[in-house]
Amino acid sequence: MEQTTAATGIYADENRDQRERIIGLLEQAYWMEIETVMSYIANSVNPDGVRAQEIIESLQQDIQEELGHAQQFARRIKELYGVVPGSMDFAPAQSYLQPPAEQTDIVHVIRGVIEAETGAIGHYTRVIEETDGVDPVTQDMVTAILHDEQGHKRLFEGFLREYEAEGLA
Ligand SMILES: [Fe+2]
Ligand SMILES: [Fe+2]
Repeated sequence: MEQTTAATGIYADENRDQRERIIGLLEQAYWMEIETVMSYIANSVNPDGVRAQEIIESLQQDIQEELGHAQQFARRIKELYGVVPGSMDFAPAQSYLQPPAEQTDIVHVIRGVIEAETGAIGHYTRVIEETDGVDPVTQDMVTAILHDEQGHKRLFEGFLREYEAEGLA
């Protein structure tokens, strides 16, 4: 950990432990976004069929947003005197977003996206709680990102509802 020059708020010496804990949470968030980018690229290319097009277009847009989130988390890690981890530290977790057996299985993709977004919402809600009263800048940033993830989740829940209404899910 580098020596800090400012001595108030999250940069204060007495907040060092909290700052390091927040960096750990941000590293986890960074990896979640990176893995989501990988999963959404694959799932925006693999699906077959007329019905897949809406999902493909939606995921193509999300890839850019999730990449932007990863960059924001990386920058915040640096601002808190952390170091953005290298790729050898990456450990995958999105078993539910692996390619389905059949590439026309759009429901598998929709459910996987909902699970990924739900996981992100859970983790970011925790970051917002852990930064409360300690690091309002990280809290603000993560609140805005949480808003994006809620929008993604709601959109894909709508897709799922349509498939359910037609007896396809
Ligand atoms: Fe994201
Ligand atoms: Fe998202």
